Amino acid sequence: MTPNNELMEGLIESMSLNEKLGQLTMIRADFGDAGAELGVAKLAQIRAGLAGSILDLRGLKNLEDGQRAAVEMSRLRIPLLFTLDVLHGYDTIFPIPLGEAAAFDPCVWQQTARVAAAEAAAEGIALTFAPMLDVARDPRWGRIAESPGEDPFVGARFAEAKVRGFQQGDLSQGATLAATAKHFAGYGAVTAGRDYASADIAPRTLEEVHLPPFAAAVRAGVAAIMPAFVDLAGEPLTAHRGMLDGVLRRRWAFDGVIVSDFCAVRELIVHGVASDAVEAAALALNAGVDIDMESGVYLEGLPEALARGLVSHDQIDAAVRRVLMLKARLGLFDKPFERGSRPVSSNQRQQHRSLALEAARKSIVLLQNRNGLLPLKGIGHLAVAGPLANAARDMLGPWHAAGNAKETVSFLNGIKKALPGWRITDDASPGAAREADAILLCIGESASQCGEATSRARPGIPDEQRKLAEDVFNLGKPVIVALTSGRPLIDPWLFEKADAVLATWYLGSEAGAALAGILTGAANPSGKLPVTWPHDAGQIPIFYAQRPTGRPAKPDEHDTSKYLDVPVGPQFPFGHGLSFTRFVYGSPQASSKTIRHGERLLVEAEVKNVGDVAGEETAFLFIRDPVASVARPLLELKGFTKISLAPGMTGKVRFELTADDLAFPGADGEPRLEAGEVQILVGPSASRDRLKSCSVWVVLDQA
Ligand code: BGC
Repeated sequence: MTPNNELMEGLIESMSLNEKLGQLTMIRADFGDAGAELGVAKLAQIRAGLAGSILDLRGLKNLEDGQRAAVEMSRLRIPLLFTLDVLHGYDTIFPIPLGEAAAFDPCVWQQTARVAAAEAAAEGIALTFAPMLDVARDPRWGRIAESPGEDPFVGARFAEAKVRGFQQGDLSQGATLAATAKHFAGYGAVTAGRDYASADIAPRTLEEVHLPPFAAAVRAGVAAIMPAFVDLAGEPLTAHRGMLDGVLRRRWAFDGVIVSDFCAVRELIVHGVASDAVEAAALALNAGVDIDMESGVYLEGLPEALARGLVSHDQIDAAVRRVLMLKARLGLFDKPFERGSRPVSSNQRQQHRSLALEAARKSIVLLQNRNGLLPLKGIGHLAVAGPLANAARDMLGPWHAAGNAKETVSFLNGIKKALPGWRITDDASPGAAREADAILLCIGESASQCGEATSRARPGIPDEQRKLAEDVFNLGKPVIVALTSGRPLIDPWLFEKADAVLATWYLGSEAGAALAGILTGAANPSGKLPVTWPHDAGQIPIFYAQRPTGRPAKPDEHDTSKYLDVPVGPQFPFGHGLSFTRFVYGSPQASSKTIRHGERLLVEAEVKNVGDVAGEETAFLFIRDPVASVARPLLELKGFTKISLAPGMTGKVRFELTADDLAFPGADGEPRLEAGEVQILVGPSASRDRLKSCSVWVVLDQA
């Protein structure tokens, strides 16, 4: 039975303090030889009503045993909430979020989340710690791999698609996961890209850059939010009243669950804002954290915090109410074993694999293609070299849930299967590779080099791989590099030497099949960079939406904004990504020259496929406000859309812009629309010289 309000209140009234704190406590599965399981002590804790949710438990039988302990053996029979990091697939693994962002395809983003939810729910899981929505502009930070990249507009669209995909509108219908938007907010700006370091973000930057993806997730109905581990200008997010109670609860009216990050409540002591578990628990609860993940500090510290008057019973009840409401919305009171009772059919699995192939293909970014080397033509013998050539496990990337290397297509296997008529050799020795017509060099980062706690001061190709690459280049053969990574790798030498380079991220279950399709031309690459690719680590943070300087870079003028030792521009701009065809853009046209409060306008631009093959293009719409009360970024993304065109065909890309899209936070943080010109720029990337523009004028009616 789903508790209605009256039943819910009755239930809360009947709970002891410890049972209440149990609902606010998430414990992690034990890890033994057989993998994740609930040991005797944890099962006893569940039976005693002292744990409300479980992290990282896997295996249907284990989940059922845990649920039985809760709903058949605990006093109040409140069901458990099983949680896991399902970021980019469960059994079927899709590209890592940064890779999937490169597809610029909200339909794909939503579908992959729907499939991940269906597969995870079939194993009894009810909540995922995804989507990760940290705007990430620093490739030194390993968690950039988990993010949709540098842009808040892309992050917001990604957030909506993922929340809809995971939650399917109605959480109770079984094949769904409650989504958790994380890590609120500003984690992407950790100092010097060092994981867990503190973040200092100006209020305007927080508002314009870091908050929009979370605001979009809340608007889309996200069930939960996780505060970041880190502190924002001295206030750990886990204890940040202004952010959790102020922004989330009051300003955005978020009434879902706030779940701490792993042990983050206890870490408040290490942060230096609490002297013991009592203070740490009180700080987190007072800020708005409902669930304490793994640190056990709520159970340990809240009774004493109550006695000292640091927190109130009402606050505890409010947090318990939110947790129970989430369980009710998930249908767990009615049917605690429903998730797990509907296995995924083999037919569905097939469809999931097809989606994994589509998502992987769309995520590949063709960074460079000298002399049109790709697609490969007239080649009978391809040598496939490098440590990532036959590395199925690495293709799964970080946070790969139940992803299984045995069911993952490595590059080598995918290519062999797709090209039965070719001679494919995987001997990288110069002697063997010398025989080949072309060499595919599979290098980059292993999956363990990206994700959480993998900051790198110099994100680049490891030295031993560079040595291999140089030997291969020295053979003088055409070389295609499949560059596997969870971030831009800063290796300008590679782009000087390689003929073709593909950013292949971690593509998931169908990695090899997807790459093979691009090499042969069966698929035309359409991915574009969701993040600026630096030329030198010293340029970081580098991103397209910079504000203007009073002294723009001029190569021949000394006192201008540039470096003496490296170029000022990136290796590749945001939005860069080549195709086997070429697209030519016409100038954008707006449906009106003026726009007022509450109005919208349509912007259209012609795009022509001037090459020989069909292709899909992602077009971007940026705005530029040349004169405003505060300096506005040189470009701000306000739209992206895709168009498929046969060779020789012309089509139109269409965007809608509202007056709200042209507003920005004023000095008081409130949105402000200012009169005057706004330039609209449409084109293939954030490279200024590739964009065509028109202007509209914001008109404000006199009061
Ligand atoms: C990560 C979170 C993750 C949690 C649970 C933490 O270390 O920061 O993103 O959801 O672990 O696995």
